[in-house]
Amino acid sequence: MWRRLGIGLGVIGVAGWVGCGLLPERFAVNAPIASMLFGSLGDPIEDGDLAQMQVPDGFQIGIYADGLPPTPRFMRFSETGDLLVSAPRSGAVVLIEADADGDGRADGQRVLIEGLEQPHGVELRDGWLYVGETDAIARIRYDAERGRTDGPLERIVTGLPGGGNHWTKSLRFGPDGWLYMHVGSTCNVCIEEDERRATIMRFHPDGSDGEIYATGLRNSVGFDWQPGTGKLYATDNGRDLLGDDFPPCELNEIVPGGFYGWPIANGDRVPDPDFGEGQQARIAASIPPAHPFRAHNAPLGITFVTGAALPESYRGTALVALHGSWNRSKKDGYKVVSLHWDEDGSIEERDFATGWERDDDVIGRPVDVVEGPDGALYVSDDYAGVIWRIAYGEPTSQTAKLPKRAVGDPFAGAPAAERSALSAEGAGLYTRHACATCHEPDRAPAGTAVKQLEQLEERYDVDSLSLLLLTPPQPMPTYPLSDRERKALAVYLLEAHR
Ligand code: HEC
Repeated sequence: MWRRLGIGLGVIGVAGWVGCGLLPERFAVNAPIASMLFGSLGDPIEDGDLAQMQVPDGFQIGIYADGLPPTPRFMRFSETGDLLVSAPRSGAVVLIEADADGDGRADGQRVLIEGLEQPHGVELRDGWLYVGETDAIARIRYDAERGRTDGPLERIVTGLPGGGNHWTKSLRFGPDGWLYMHVGSTCNVCIEEDERRATIMRFHPDGSDGEIYATGLRNSVGFDWQPGTGKLYATDNGRDLLGDDFPPCELNEIVPGGFYGWPIANGDRVPDPDFGEGQQARIAASIPPAHPFRAHNAPLGITFVTGAALPESYRGTALVALHGSWNRSKKDGYKVVSLHWDEDGSIEERDFATGWERDDDVIGRPVDVVEGPDGALYVSDDYAGVIWRIAYGEPTSQTAKLPKRAVGDPFAGAPAAERSALSAEGAGLYTRHACATCHEPDRAPAGTAVKQLEQLEERYDVDSLSLLLLTPPQPMPTYPLSDRERKALAVYLLEAHR
């Protein structure tokens, strides 16, 4: 059973979604990383790219770990300094070994769990490792000393609304001991059928007593509690198709039962052109953002840092990863910003780390940011497939240089004899699934945001593009495609969109 916080909403039970199931041991392997299918999304980061990164005076930025399985997203440090990272496209959680020799680079990496359904949130508590899958919350015993899981993976919540445009589930324990999770909307803007969509929910650590905590949140991928005040802040991504500069993305202060406006209002209670009509009373009762981010910047992970190893001005600030715009005429975002609270409660946003995008050329996309046990900051990047490390006051030699990697033949994953058959099959699938409606300006219905497919072979090969189609970048929908069909589409796309 679950309930929804707020006035007059009562208790509503939905059979079958709070469940408990044990999975066979094969879901929990401690496999060497070489057994995984590889393929990062962007070009490998090169020394020239490192040179274009900018951080405040006295800070250095380098690569902590690279060559990660696609696509590194949310992170948690274990008590022994290993970094656990979700890789939804690989269905895996990866363990990045602590930097015991202190050279600013992780000592190794391996797959900790595989076979998961689009894992996103990772959280640790009382010897359990929790994972937010697209439609479930799973947990497994985790031995931090040995860096190993133990026993079977257990799905403590099942039947969550998965898939759709915003399929990720982030997880974090609150100071109150509840496990909080976000559930994004299925769409850009619409009335949801499942009222758990576009909310933040919370559960007891064993998955019981799930409830909706706050609503009207289109996709609050990142959230954290401010030390001192205990206030919960969450990022939220504003809707598309209202132009380059509206609506703002949001930082919201989340209160129990709070309604944050989506889909009837955007930004500071501005009625939505599609769903706002006749909703004046509800809009007036909605809670406006605590801070607006620029439109389409796509804020994801947020972390309040102690800042113990940073200059005074960073004590207690929140760092936010801006994933960057995909549909703005000039690209924007692609950086990490710091939020500073003034005495009067107002929030100032400052650039912290920039350079992932320059002159519309993208080398990476920040997803999550965490503070390490060494006081440095770690940023996951699902485009370059790396973890960045930003430290203060270290010799520059510590910012690790990169091994050079050859960019291979994009068609290596498809046998030459089969290529033309695969390509023809892929063209058919592209038509059947109406991919052009979002990807080709002259084929898109009026009012659709178009993302043109370009230069794919510079960034993907058959294997990595097939993987992309398994867990598409939001807001692209997930399609029920077989392995063969994904490969066929990949071959076709690589040929057709050079
Ligand atoms: C509802 C709109 C929509 C539909 C339908 C759609 N996509 Fe997408 N797709 C997107 C968006 C938006 C992005 C970019 C997301 C981002 O980068 O943040 C994207 C990204 C992609 C990318 C990665 C592009 C890059 O430059 O990295 C590929 C490849 C792709 N889509 C292929 C397909 C295929 C194949 C289909 C049909 C099976 C399809 N898409 C259907 C919206 C859509």
